[in-house]
Amino acid sequence: MSKFIAKPATTLSGELKIPGDKSISHRSIMLGSLSEGVTKVSGFLEGEDALSTLKAFQAMGVKIEREDDNVTIHGVGIHGLKKPEKPLDLGNSGTSIRLMSGILAAQAFDSELVGDESLSKRPMGRVINPLKDMGAVIQSNDGKPPLKITGGQPLKGIHYDLPVASAQVKSCVLLAGLYADGDTCVTEPAPTRDHTERMLKGLGYDVRVNDNQMCLTGGGKLSATAIQVPSDISSAAFFMVAACIAPKSDITLMGVNINPTRTGVIDILKLMGANLTLSNEREIGGELLADIRIKSSELKGIQIPKALVPLAIDEFPAVFIAAGCAQGETILTGAKELRVKESDRIQVMADGLDILGVKNEVLDDGIKIQGGEFKEPTSIIESHHDHRISMSFAVASLRCAYPIEINGVDNVMTSFPNFVDLANSAGMDITEV
Ligand code: S3P
Repeated sequence: MSKFIAKPATTLSGELKIPGDKSISHRSIMLGSLSEGVTKVSGFLEGEDALSTLKAFQAMGVKIEREDDNVTIHGVGIHGLKKPEKPLDLGNSGTSIRLMSGILAAQAFDSELVGDESLSKRPMGRVINPLKDMGAVIQSNDGKPPLKITGGQPLKGIHYDLPVASAQVKSCVLLAGLYADGDTCVTEPAPTRDHTERMLKGLGYDVRVNDNQMCLTGGGKLSATAIQVPSDISSAAFFMVAACIAPKSDITLMGVNINPTRTGVIDILKLMGANLTLSNEREIGGELLADIRIKSSELKGIQIPKALVPLAIDEFPAVFIAAGCAQGETILTGAKELRVKESDRIQVMADGLDILGVKNEVLDDGIKIQGGEFKEPTSIIESHHDHRISMSFAVASLRCAYPIEINGVDNVMTSFPNFVDLANSAGMDITEV
C-alpha cells in the first residue's frame, strides 16, 4: 500500500496538459468495439479504469491496439462480441460494470462481471432493476457485484424514469436499448453527463433528446469514426482548487472538456470567488473544450446550489478542500450519492478535514464546512483507497505548515496516473513511497 508525503509549497505555475477524460475514454472503447469499421482514439486516458474496459472488450474478441494514448479499435459491430473465457474483472471501475451490464444483458452468451473490494460493495440494483424490466436475467450478490448475466434473452424497449440522477444508469439503459425491440426512453430528474448520447450520435445512431428525456430505437448500427478525447475536467479540478488556494499561483489547464453537464465545479468555484477564466473555447468531435486559467483567489464560503450537484458530482472532494480554505461556511445538501462512490466521500472527507483541524458537520446528504486556517501539527490522512480523496488531500498540502501523509494512494492510477509528476512540475512537493 503506497502513500503520498506532501510537503508544503506556495507557488504553482505553468501550462498543464491534464490527461484524457475517463468517461469519454470508457465510452470510446465500448462504442468503438460495437461499431462497424476502425475507430482511432487519441488522448485516451491510460488509467486503470479505462484500461479495465479496454481489456474486457479484448477478452470479448475485439482487436484493440494501444500505443500510449492512441488506441485503434477494430470494431466488430453490434452483434460481433464473443463469449469471454473468464469472468470480466473491472477492477475499481463503476462506469465499466454499470455500462457494460447494459451491453452484456443483450448478448447471446452468459457473462460474469467482477471487481475489487470497493467495487464489490457498490450498489448495482440501480442497473439491474431497469434491465430486468427490459427482460434481462441477472444474478447479483444482494444487489452488489459479482453480476452473473444470462445471455440469450430478448430485450424489449422501456420508458424508464431514473430514480437518481445517474449518467451510468442512463447510459446502461440506453446501451441495452440498442438491442431492444422498439423504443427505449430514459427520463432524468436533473441533467447528468451526456457523453453516451453525444458519442452515439457521432457514430451515426439516432438519439432523440427532448428536454430531460433521451430516446433511441433498437436495431440500428454504429459506424466507426475518429474520437479525440479532451482533458478530464474531474482531474483538472484538483489543479483548479490547488491554484485557488496556493498563495502564489498562475496556471493554465489546456484543452479541458467543458461539456455543460460537467462544469458544476467551475460554477461552484466562481461562486466562491475563484480567479478563473476560460479562453479559446472550441468544439472537437461533439465535445466543447477550453483553456482554463486560475490564479490565487480569496475564496468565500457559499451554499452550493442544488442544481449544480449532479454537474460536479465527482469534484466534491476537491471542492471540500477549497471550502476548508474559504472565509466562512460552505454548505452542501442534496448530495447523498457521494456516500456510494469509490468510498463514502462525505464521511471520509470529513474525517480528513477533522485531522487538518477544519471544523465540519456531516449531514445525511451533505456537509457543512467552516473554512479558515488548517491547524494540523502533523497529519496522517486515510484515503480509503479512493483516488479522488488521495488527490484532494495532496492539494490541501498547499495550505499546510508541515508535511502531511496520505495513506492508500494506489488507486490514483485509476484516473490520473501522472498526477504526482504533473503536480510537482507545477511547483508542488509530493513524494510517493
Ligand atoms: C460517470 C457517472 C457518474 C460519475 C462517475 C462516472 C459516467 O456516476 O460519478 O465517476 O462516466 O457515466 P453516477 O452515474 O453514479 O452518478
